[in-house]
Amino acid sequence: MNHTFKANQPIGIFDSGIGGLTVARAITKLLPNEQIIYFGDTAHMPYGEKSAEAIKYYSVKIAEFLKFKNCKMIVIACNTASAAGYKAVVKSTGMRDLVVNVVDPAVEYVVKNHYRQKVGVIATKRTISSNVYAKRIESLDPVSDVVQLATPLLAPMIEEGFYNNKISQTIINSYLSKSKLSKIDALILGCTHYPLIKGEIQKFYGKSVEVIDSSEIVALHVKQVLEKHQLLNETKSSRFSLSKKSQFFVSDYTQSFEETSKIFFDEKVKLKQFNIWEE
Ligand code: DGL
Repeated sequence: MNHTFKANQPIGIFDSGIGGLTVARAITKLLPNEQIIYFGDTAHMPYGEKSAEAIKYYSVKIAEFLKFKNCKMIVIACNTASAAGYKAVVKSTGMRDLVVNVVDPAVEYVVKNHYRQKVGVIATKRTISSNVYAKRIESLDPVSDVVQLATPLLAPMIEEGFYNNKISQTIINSYLSKSKLSKIDALILGCTHYPLIKGEIQKFYGKSVEVIDSSEIVALHVKQVLEKHQLLNETKSSRFSLSKKSQFFVSDYTQSFEETSKIFFDEKVKLKQFNIWEE
């Protein structure tokens, strides 16, 4: 394999829906010169309820689409797809360490900052059943105590625009009150939708628990990988607004996606509907 990527090519980012926008935002904040091509697979959301095989299939299709769109890097901005589809994406695209998943940078952070502590993970059913966080943390820190809880209502709730209100706080509190999560030192938000409810989660715990939102950790990792491969875009393009220089695709148009995108980027992003499944 001998790809010759250039620094001015875009970064491809995908998720099942709006969750990956938390990662896209962190990347554009840290690296404002980068151009982004985002794909939200809203037609198949929620991934958390699908089989590993289905998620693998969707992930490979989307990654190939992003590669076809000339992306120099692919960020799997979805924990569920990172757990089920990362290896398959690396294999099908041949892009090796230019494929970034959201699990490994978070694991590295936890091992460094919460060594030998009790760490909770909340995520979709598929991510929890894959055991990906527990396995990877325990392989680096055998004395750690990792407790995991599937919180399947949260991603669809957020995708539907329910956050920062009474309903979301009630659902969040009922999940976080489970005895499994008692006395934790840190909580990993193991789904890229959850940074949107970080405030509500932190409110439940007060200051006693570090709530780990991996979007900024992943953005930093993206920067390091691009630097290592001399692919960081140094050309200033700040005079172009995000909506001019980046592109946002969804496999099915949803109004909530468009609404929520405003919160992220202070401007409405123009959504292009693209059904890659019929190609
Ligand atoms: N945002 C995704 C994740 O990080 C998945 C949400 C879903 O589609 O179930 O796991």
